[in-house]
Amino acid sequence: MEFKLTDEQKMIQEMARDFAQNEVAPAAHELDMKSEFPAQHIKKMAELGLMGMMVPTEWDGAGLDTLTYTLALEEISAACASTSVTMSVNNSLYCGPITKFATDEQKKKYLSPFARGEQLGAYALSEPGTGSDAANQQTIATLKGDKYIINGRKNFITNGPNADAMLVYAMTDKDKRHKGISAFIVEKNFPGFSIGKIEKKLGICASSTSEIVLEDCEVPKANLLGEEGMGFTIAMNTLDSGRIGIGTQAVGIARAAFEAARKYSTEREAFGAAICNFQALQHFMADMATRTDAARLLVHRAAWLRDNNQVYGKEAAMAKLYASETANWVTDKAVQMHGGYGYIKEYDVERYFRDAKITEIYEGTSEIQRLVIARAVLKEIGFTKFQ
Ligand code: CAA
Repeated sequence: MEFKLTDEQKMIQEMARDFAQNEVAPAAHELDMKSEFPAQHIKKMAELGLMGMMVPTEWDGAGLDTLTYTLALEEISAACASTSVTMSVNNSLYCGPITKFATDEQKKKYLSPFARGEQLGAYALSEPGTGSDAANQQTIATLKGDKYIINGRKNFITNGPNADAMLVYAMTDKDKRHKGISAFIVEKNFPGFSIGKIEKKLGICASSTSEIVLEDCEVPKANLLGEEGMGFTIAMNTLDSGRIGIGTQAVGIARAAFEAARKYSTEREAFGAAICNFQALQHFMADMATRTDAARLLVHRAAWLRDNNQVYGKEAAMAKLYASETANWVTDKAVQMHGGYGYIKEYDVERYFRDAKITEIYEGTSEIQRLVIARAVLKEIGFTKFQ
Protein backbone atom coordinates (compact mmCIF):
# COMPACT_ATOMS: atom_id res chain seq x y z
CA MET A 1 0.00 0.00 0.00
CA GLU A 2 1.35 3.39 -1.03
CA PHE A 3 0.46 6.53 0.94
CA LYS A 4 3.00 8.74 -0.85
CA LEU A 5 1.83 11.33 -3.36
CA THR A 6 3.60 11.68 -6.69
CA ASP A 7 5.58 14.85 -7.42
CA GLU A 8 2.84 15.95 -9.81
CA GLN A 9 0.14 15.41 -7.16
CA LYS A 10 2.14 17.38 -4.60
CA MET A 11 2.64 20.20 -7.09
CA ILE A 12 -1.07 20.44 -7.91
CA GLN A 13 -2.00 20.25 -4.22
CA GLU A 14 0.41 23.12 -3.44
CA MET A 15 -0.80 25.18 -6.39
CA ALA A 16 -4.43 24.75 -5.26
CA ARG A 17 -3.49 25.53 -1.64
CA ASP A 18 -1.68 28.75 -2.62
CA PHE A 19 -4.61 29.93 -4.67
CA ALA A 20 -7.17 28.85 -2.04
CA GLN A 21 -5.40 30.47 0.90
CA ASN A 22 -4.25 33.64 -0.88
CA GLU A 23 -7.32 34.42 -2.97
CA VAL A 24 -10.33 32.28 -2.08
CA ALA A 25 -10.23 32.26 1.74
CA PRO A 26 -9.87 36.04 2.17
CA ALA A 27 -13.01 36.65 0.08
CA ALA A 28 -15.14 33.82 1.49
CA HIS A 29 -16.77 35.70 4.38
CA GLU A 30 -17.91 38.64 2.28
CA LEU A 31 -19.24 36.45 -0.56
CA ASP A 32 -21.13 34.39 2.02
CA MET A 33 -22.64 37.47 3.66
CA LYS A 34 -23.73 38.88 0.30
CA SER A 35 -24.76 35.47 -1.12
CA GLU A 36 -22.65 36.48 -4.12
CA PHE A 37 -21.62 33.90 -6.73
CA PRO A 38 -17.80 33.49 -6.71
CA ALA A 39 -17.40 34.34 -10.42
CA GLN A 40 -13.86 35.70 -9.95
CA HIS A 41 -12.71 32.41 -8.40
CA ILE A 42 -14.28 30.32 -11.14
CA LYS A 43 -12.45 32.40 -13.77
CA LYS A 44 -9.13 31.89 -12.00
CA MET A 45 -9.80 28.18 -11.44
CA ALA A 46 -10.41 27.87 -15.18
CA GLU A 47 -6.97 29.39 -15.81
CA LEU A 48 -5.43 26.97 -13.31
CA GLY A 49 -7.04 23.95 -15.01
CA LEU A 50 -9.27 23.13 -12.04
CA MET A 51 -12.64 23.08 -13.81
CA GLY A 52 -12.15 19.96 -15.93
CA MET A 53 -9.52 18.12 -13.95
CA MET A 54 -10.44 14.56 -14.97
CA VAL A 55 -11.38 15.36 -18.57
CA PRO A 56 -8.82 13.97 -21.07
CA THR A 57 -6.45 16.56 -22.53
CA GLU A 58 -7.80 15.90 -26.05
CA TRP A 59 -11.05 17.51 -24.80
CA ASP A 60 -9.18 20.39 -23.15
CA GLY A 61 -9.26 19.00 -19.63
CA ALA A 62 -6.28 18.49 -17.33
CA GLY A 63 -6.31 14.70 -17.87
CA LEU A 64 -5.65 13.97 -14.20
CA ASP A 65 -6.85 11.16 -11.95
CA THR A 66 -9.55 11.25 -9.28
CA LEU A 67 -7.08 11.27 -6.40
CA THR A 68 -5.39 14.41 -7.73
CA TYR A 69 -8.82 15.98 -8.16
CA THR A 70 -9.61 15.32 -4.47
CA LEU A 71 -6.33 16.92 -3.42
CA ALA A 72 -7.17 20.15 -5.23
CA LEU A 73 -10.83 20.10 -4.24
CA GLU A 74 -9.97 19.67 -0.55
CA GLU A 75 -7.86 22.83 -0.72
CA ILE A 76 -10.64 24.87 -2.30
CA SER A 77 -13.18 23.40 0.16
CA ALA A 78 -11.05 24.36 3.16
CA ALA A 79 -11.13 27.96 1.90
CA CYS A 80 -14.72 28.31 0.66
CA ALA A 81 -17.32 25.55 0.40
CA SER A 82 -19.46 27.63 -1.96
CA THR A 83 -16.61 27.85 -4.45
CA SER A 84 -15.81 24.16 -4.04
CA VAL A 85 -19.34 22.92 -4.78
CA THR A 86 -19.40 25.04 -7.94
CA MET A 87 -16.13 23.39 -8.94
CA SER A 88 -17.24 19.87 -8.01
CA VAL A 89 -20.56 20.04 -9.87
CA ASN A 90 -18.82 21.18 -13.06
CA ASN A 91 -16.08 18.56 -12.72
CA SER A 92 -17.91 15.47 -11.52
CA LEU A 93 -21.62 15.93 -12.18
CA TYR A 94 -21.42 17.66 -15.55
CA CYS A 95 -18.06 16.95 -17.25
CA GLY A 96 -17.92 13.41 -15.77
CA PRO A 97 -20.96 11.92 -17.55
CA ILE A 98 -20.32 13.90 -20.75
CA THR A 99 -16.79 12.48 -20.86
CA LYS A 100 -18.09 8.95 -20.32
CA PHE A 101 -21.32 8.84 -22.32
CA ALA A 102 -21.27 11.59 -25.00
CA THR A 103 -20.46 11.22 -28.69
CA ASP A 104 -17.45 13.07 -30.09
CA GLU A 105 -19.82 15.52 -31.74
CA GLN A 106 -21.44 16.27 -28.37
CA LYS A 107 -18.07 16.51 -26.65
CA LYS A 108 -16.86 19.21 -29.06
CA LYS A 109 -19.74 21.45 -28.12
CA TYR A 110 -20.59 20.41 -24.58
CA LEU A 111 -17.34 19.20 -23.04
CA SER A 112 -14.32 21.20 -24.19
CA PRO A 113 -15.60 24.71 -23.28
CA PHE A 114 -16.77 23.39 -19.88
CA ALA A 115 -13.50 21.60 -19.20
CA ARG A 116 -11.68 24.86 -20.05
CA GLY A 117 -13.96 26.57 -17.53
CA GLU A 118 -15.26 29.07 -20.07
CA GLN A 119 -18.75 27.67 -19.58
CA LEU A 120 -20.37 26.19 -16.50
CA GLY A 121 -22.40 22.99 -16.20
CA ALA A 122 -25.07 21.68 -13.84
CA TYR A 123 -26.93 18.47 -13.07
CA ALA A 124 -30.73 18.50 -12.93
CA LEU A 125 -32.07 15.32 -11.36
CA SER A 126 -34.09 16.39 -8.27
CA GLU A 127 -37.65 17.58 -8.63
CA PRO A 128 -40.07 19.18 -6.18
CA GLY A 129 -41.51 15.74 -5.35
CA THR A 130 -38.51 13.58 -6.28
CA GLY A 131 -35.40 13.69 -4.13
CA SER A 132 -34.11 10.45 -2.63
CA ASP A 133 -36.41 8.36 -4.85
CA ALA A 134 -34.60 9.45 -7.99
CA ALA A 135 -36.35 6.89 -10.20
CA ASN A 136 -39.70 8.60 -9.65
CA GLN A 137 -39.10 11.30 -12.31
CA GLN A 138 -42.13 13.41 -13.23
CA THR A 139 -40.45 15.42 -15.98
CA ILE A 140 -41.57 14.11 -19.36
CA ALA A 141 -39.71 14.15 -22.68
CA THR A 142 -41.66 13.41 -25.87
CA LEU A 143 -39.98 12.94 -29.23
CA LYS A 144 -41.57 15.09 -31.95
CA GLY A 145 -39.73 15.00 -35.26
CA ASP A 146 -36.09 15.86 -34.63
CA LYS A 147 -36.73 17.38 -31.20
CA TYR A 148 -37.66 16.25 -27.71
CA ILE A 149 -40.26 18.41 -26.02
CA ILE A 150 -39.55 18.45 -22.30
CA ASN A 151 -42.01 19.49 -19.60
CA GLY A 152 -41.35 19.55 -15.87
CA ARG A 153 -39.61 21.30 -13.00
CA LYS A 154 -36.26 20.55 -11.41
CA ASN A 155 -35.27 21.95 -8.06
CA PHE A 156 -32.28 22.54 -5.77
CA ILE A 157 -30.06 22.77 -8.87
CA THR A 158 -26.54 23.81 -7.89
CA ASN A 159 -25.11 26.31 -10.44
CA GLY A 160 -28.66 26.53 -11.91
CA PRO A 161 -28.77 30.31 -12.45
CA ASN A 162 -25.18 30.44 -13.74
CA ALA A 163 -25.03 27.30 -15.86
CA ASP A 164 -24.66 27.48 -19.63
CA ALA A 165 -25.87 23.90 -20.05
CA MET A 166 -27.01 21.10 -17.79
CA LEU A 167 -27.86 17.44 -17.77
CA VAL A 168 -31.62 17.10 -17.45
CA TYR A 169 -33.21 13.75 -16.61
CA ALA A 170 -36.70 13.05 -17.93
CA MET A 171 -39.05 10.16 -18.58
CA THR A 172 -39.21 9.06 -22.19
CA ASP A 173 -41.34 6.04 -21.21
CA LYS A 174 -43.28 6.48 -17.98
CA ASP A 175 -44.41 2.83 -17.84
CA LYS A 176 -40.86 1.55 -17.55
CA ARG A 177 -40.05 3.46 -14.31
CA HIS A 178 -36.24 3.74 -14.00
CA LYS A 179 -35.70 2.04 -17.37
CA GLY A 180 -37.78 4.79 -18.99
CA ILE A 181 -35.52 7.66 -17.86
CA SER A 182 -33.28 9.41 -20.38
CA ALA A 183 -30.60 12.09 -20.01
CA PHE A 184 -30.45 15.26 -22.13
CA ILE A 185 -27.94 18.05 -22.53
CA VAL A 186 -30.01 21.21 -22.29
CA GLU A 187 -28.70 24.69 -23.03
CA LYS A 188 -29.95 27.69 -21.10
CA ASN A 189 -30.98 29.37 -24.37
CA PHE A 190 -33.22 26.58 -25.62
CA PRO A 191 -36.83 27.70 -26.15
CA GLY A 192 -38.96 26.81 -23.12
CA PHE A 193 -36.05 26.77 -20.63
CA SER A 194 -36.12 29.19 -17.72
CA ILE A 195 -34.73 29.70 -14.25
CA GLY A 196 -37.34 29.48 -11.51
CA LYS A 197 -37.05 30.40 -7.85
CA ILE A 198 -33.56 31.22 -6.62
CA GLU A 199 -33.07 29.64 -3.21
CA LYS A 200 -31.80 31.34 -0.05
CA LYS A 201 -29.89 28.78 1.98
CA LEU A 202 -28.57 28.02 5.48
CA GLY A 203 -25.01 27.53 4.22
CA ILE A 204 -22.91 27.55 1.02
CA CYS A 205 -24.65 30.89 0.50
CA ALA A 206 -22.30 32.10 -2.23
CA SER A 207 -23.08 29.12 -4.44
CA SER A 208 -26.11 29.47 -6.67
CA THR A 209 -29.12 27.18 -6.37
CA SER A 210 -32.38 27.43 -8.24
CA GLU A 211 -35.39 25.76 -9.69
CA ILE A 212 -35.33 24.99 -13.44
CA VAL A 213 -38.56 25.28 -15.38
CA LEU A 214 -39.06 23.35 -18.61
CA GLU A 215 -42.20 24.39 -20.50
CA ASP A 216 -42.41 22.74 -23.89
CA CYS A 217 -38.63 23.05 -23.86
CA GLU A 218 -37.25 22.16 -27.29
CA VAL A 219 -34.18 19.96 -27.15
CA PRO A 220 -32.60 18.67 -30.38
CA LYS A 221 -32.67 14.88 -30.71
CA ALA A 222 -28.89 15.08 -31.05
CA ASN A 223 -28.72 16.20 -27.40
CA LEU A 224 -29.85 12.87 -26.01
CA LEU A 225 -26.95 11.57 -23.89
CA GLY A 226 -26.37 7.87 -24.46
CA GLU A 227 -29.54 6.08 -25.51
CA GLU A 228 -33.17 6.36 -24.51
CA GLY A 229 -33.68 4.55 -21.20
CA MET A 230 -30.04 4.94 -20.09
CA GLY A 231 -30.73 7.99 -17.93
CA PHE A 232 -30.97 6.25 -14.56
CA THR A 233 -27.72 4.36 -15.10
CA ILE A 234 -26.02 7.61 -16.12
CA ALA A 235 -27.48 9.41 -13.08
CA MET A 236 -26.40 6.72 -10.59
CA ASN A 237 -22.99 6.25 -12.15
CA THR A 238 -22.42 10.00 -12.02
CA LEU A 239 -23.48 10.20 -8.37
CA ASP A 240 -21.03 7.45 -7.44
CA SER A 241 -18.17 9.69 -8.51
CA GLY A 242 -19.90 12.88 -7.34
CA ARG A 243 -20.01 11.43 -3.83
CA ILE A 244 -16.20 11.27 -3.78
CA GLY A 245 -16.30 15.03 -4.47
CA ILE A 246 -18.77 15.79 -1.67
CA GLY A 247 -16.81 13.57 0.72
CA THR A 248 -13.76 15.63 -0.21
CA GLN A 249 -15.65 18.86 0.36
CA ALA A 250 -16.63 17.63 3.83
CA VAL A 251 -12.98 16.78 4.61
CA GLY A 252 -11.94 20.29 3.54
CA ILE A 253 -14.57 21.96 5.74
CA ALA A 254 -13.66 19.74 8.72
CA ARG A 255 -9.96 20.49 8.26
CA ALA A 256 -10.54 24.23 8.11
CA ALA A 257 -12.69 24.12 11.27
CA PHE A 258 -10.13 22.02 13.12
CA GLU A 259 -7.25 24.32 12.13
CA ALA A 260 -9.15 27.44 13.18
CA ALA A 261 -10.12 25.94 16.54
CA ARG A 262 -6.61 24.62 17.21
CA LYS A 263 -5.09 28.04 16.54
CA TYR A 264 -7.69 29.81 18.66
CA SER A 265 -7.06 27.42 21.55
CA THR A 266 -3.40 28.53 21.70
CA GLU A 267 -4.30 32.24 21.70
CA ARG A 268 -7.33 32.41 23.98
CA GLU A 269 -6.65 32.39 27.71
CA ALA A 270 -8.93 31.38 30.55
CA PHE A 271 -8.18 30.61 34.18
CA GLY A 272 -4.68 32.00 33.63
CA ALA A 273 -3.61 29.72 30.76
CA ALA A 274 -4.11 29.16 27.02
CA ILE A 275 -7.24 27.04 26.74
CA CYS A 276 -5.36 24.34 24.76
CA ASN A 277 -3.98 23.28 28.14
CA PHE A 278 -7.37 21.98 29.22
CA GLN A 279 -7.90 18.28 28.79
CA ALA A 280 -11.49 18.68 27.58
CA LEU A 281 -10.29 20.73 24.59
CA GLN A 282 -7.33 18.43 23.98
CA HIS A 283 -9.75 15.51 23.70
CA PHE A 284 -11.87 17.49 21.25
CA MET A 285 -8.78 18.19 19.13
CA ALA A 286 -7.57 14.60 19.24
CA ASP A 287 -10.93 13.36 17.99
CA MET A 288 -11.28 16.16 15.41
CA ALA A 289 -7.88 15.33 13.92
CA THR A 290 -8.46 11.55 14.00
CA ARG A 291 -11.91 11.65 12.42
CA THR A 292 -10.81 14.09 9.71
CA ASP A 293 -7.86 11.87 8.81
CA ALA A 294 -10.08 8.77 8.73
CA ALA A 295 -12.55 10.56 6.46
CA ARG A 296 -9.75 11.60 4.10
CA LEU A 297 -8.44 8.03 3.92
CA LEU A 298 -11.92 6.76 2.97
CA VAL A 299 -12.16 9.44 0.28
CA HIS A 300 -8.72 8.59 -1.09
CA ARG A 301 -9.54 4.86 -1.13
CA ALA A 302 -12.70 5.49 -3.16
CA ALA A 303 -10.72 7.74 -5.54
CA TRP A 304 -8.01 5.11 -5.89
CA LEU A 305 -10.58 2.40 -6.70
CA ARG A 306 -12.12 4.63 -9.38
CA ASP A 307 -8.70 5.39 -10.85
CA ASN A 308 -7.93 1.68 -10.99
CA ASN A 309 -11.18 0.75 -12.72
CA GLN A 310 -12.55 -1.14 -9.71
CA VAL A 311 -16.14 -1.10 -8.47
CA TYR A 312 -16.33 1.81 -6.02
CA GLY A 313 -20.00 2.75 -5.40
CA LYS A 314 -20.11 1.33 -1.87
CA GLU A 315 -16.76 2.87 -0.96
CA ALA A 316 -17.81 6.28 -2.37
CA ALA A 317 -20.99 6.12 -0.26
CA MET A 318 -18.94 5.16 2.82
CA ALA A 319 -16.56 8.05 2.19
CA LYS A 320 -19.36 10.57 1.73
CA LEU A 321 -21.32 9.28 4.73
CA TYR A 322 -18.39 9.30 7.13
CA ALA A 323 -16.84 12.54 5.86
CA SER A 324 -20.11 14.50 5.97
CA GLU A 325 -20.94 13.31 9.49
CA THR A 326 -17.37 14.12 10.49
CA ALA A 327 -17.65 17.63 9.04
CA ASN A 328 -20.79 18.24 11.08
CA TRP A 329 -19.23 16.84 14.25
CA VAL A 330 -15.94 18.71 13.84
CA THR A 331 -17.53 22.05 12.98
CA ASP A 332 -19.83 21.71 16.01
CA LYS A 333 -16.81 21.16 18.26
CA ALA A 334 -14.94 24.03 16.59
CA VAL A 335 -17.81 26.41 17.42
CA GLN A 336 -17.88 25.03 20.98
CA MET A 337 -14.15 25.62 21.41
CA HIS A 338 -14.63 29.24 20.36
CA GLY A 339 -17.37 29.74 22.97
CA GLY A 340 -19.47 32.85 22.28
CA TYR A 341 -17.12 33.97 19.49
CA GLY A 342 -17.94 30.79 17.56
CA TYR A 343 -21.51 31.99 17.27
CA ILE A 344 -20.52 35.33 15.74
CA LYS A 345 -20.45 35.85 11.97
CA GLU A 346 -16.96 37.41 11.96
CA TYR A 347 -15.47 34.07 12.99
CA ASP A 348 -15.02 31.58 10.15
CA VAL A 349 -16.13 28.61 12.28
CA GLU A 350 -19.69 29.99 12.22
CA ARG A 351 -19.67 29.66 8.40
CA TYR A 352 -18.01 26.23 8.46
CA PHE A 353 -20.75 25.02 10.84
CA ARG A 354 -23.50 26.17 8.44
CA ASP A 355 -21.67 24.95 5.31
CA ALA A 356 -21.09 21.46 6.74
CA LYS A 357 -24.80 20.61 6.97
CA ILE A 358 -25.43 20.34 3.23
CA THR A 359 -22.79 17.62 2.84
CA GLU A 360 -25.18 15.27 4.71
CA ILE A 361 -27.96 16.12 2.25
CA TYR A 362 -26.91 16.71 -1.36
CA GLU A 363 -25.77 13.99 -3.78
CA GLY A 364 -27.70 11.56 -1.58
CA THR A 365 -28.61 12.03 2.08
CA SER A 366 -26.80 10.09 4.79
CA GLU A 367 -29.82 7.79 4.89
CA ILE A 368 -29.41 7.04 1.15
CA GLN A 369 -25.67 6.41 1.64
CA ARG A 370 -26.56 3.89 4.38
CA LEU A 371 -29.07 2.27 2.03
CA VAL A 372 -26.46 1.95 -0.73
CA ILE A 373 -23.88 0.54 1.71
CA ALA A 374 -26.34 -1.86 3.37
CA ARG A 375 -27.56 -3.21 0.01
CA ALA A 376 -23.95 -3.70 -1.11
CA VAL A 377 -22.90 -5.60 2.00
CA LEU A 378 -26.03 -7.79 1.82
CA LYS A 379 -25.35 -8.51 -1.86
CA GLU A 380 -21.87 -9.67 -0.83
CA ILE A 381 -23.53 -12.67 0.87
CA GLY A 382 -26.01 -13.25 -1.95
CA PHE A 383 -29.11 -11.45 -0.64
CA THR A 384 -30.77 -9.48 -3.49
CA LYS A 385 -34.52 -9.55 -2.75
CA PHE A 386 -34.84 -5.95 -1.61
CA GLN A 387 -38.37 -4.53 -1.14
N1 CAA B 1 -24.53 2.57 -10.94
C1 CAA B 1 -25.14 2.01 -12.00
N2 CAA B 1 -26.37 1.44 -11.93
C2 CAA B 1 -27.01 1.48 -10.74
C3 CAA B 1 -26.44 2.06 -9.61
C4 CAA B 1 -25.14 2.61 -9.73
N3 CAA B 1 -24.52 3.17 -8.68
N4 CAA B 1 -27.29 1.96 -8.57
C5 CAA B 1 -28.37 1.32 -9.04
N5 CAA B 1 -28.19 1.03 -10.35
C6 CAA B 1 -29.11 0.29 -11.23
C7 CAA B 1 -29.46 -1.06 -10.60
O1 CAA B 1 -28.51 -2.03 -10.95
C8 CAA B 1 -30.80 -1.34 -11.22
O2 CAA B 1 -30.61 -1.80 -12.54
P1 CAA B 1 -31.52 -2.99 -13.15
O3 CAA B 1 -32.93 -2.54 -13.07
O4 CAA B 1 -31.01 -3.14 -14.53
O5 CAA B 1 -31.26 -4.18 -12.27
C9 CAA B 1 -31.41 0.03 -11.32
O6 CAA B 1 -30.34 0.98 -11.32
C10 CAA B 1 -32.37 0.35 -10.18
O7 CAA B 1 -31.64 0.22 -8.98
P2 CAA B 1 -32.34 0.21 -7.56
O8 CAA B 1 -33.43 -0.81 -7.55
O9 CAA B 1 -31.28 0.11 -6.54
O10 CAA B 1 -33.03 1.67 -7.56
P3 CAA B 1 -33.89 2.39 -6.48
O11 CAA B 1 -35.04 3.02 -7.14
O12 CAA B 1 -34.13 1.48 -5.31
O13 CAA B 1 -32.94 3.63 -6.04
C11 CAA B 1 -31.20 4.77 -4.86
C12 CAA B 1 -31.66 3.52 -5.66
C13 CAA B 1 -29.80 4.40 -4.41
C14 CAA B 1 -32.07 5.04 -3.66
C15 CAA B 1 -31.18 5.99 -5.81
O14 CAA B 1 -32.47 6.39 -6.15
C16 CAA B 1 -30.42 7.16 -5.22
O15 CAA B 1 -29.19 7.21 -5.28
N6 CAA B 1 -31.15 8.15 -4.68
C17 CAA B 1 -30.53 9.39 -4.21
C18 CAA B 1 -30.55 10.40 -5.32
C19 CAA B 1 -29.54 11.48 -5.07
O16 CAA B 1 -28.41 11.23 -4.65
N7 CAA B 1 -29.92 12.69 -5.39
C20 CAA B 1 -29.02 13.81 -5.28
C21 CAA B 1 -29.39 14.82 -6.31
S1 CAA B 1 -28.05 15.48 -7.17
C22 CAA B 1 -27.39 16.72 -6.23
O17 CAA B 1 -27.58 16.82 -5.06
C23 CAA B 1 -26.49 17.58 -7.02
C24 CAA B 1 -26.16 18.92 -6.54
O18 CAA B 1 -26.77 19.86 -6.95
C25 CAA B 1 -24.96 19.12 -5.70
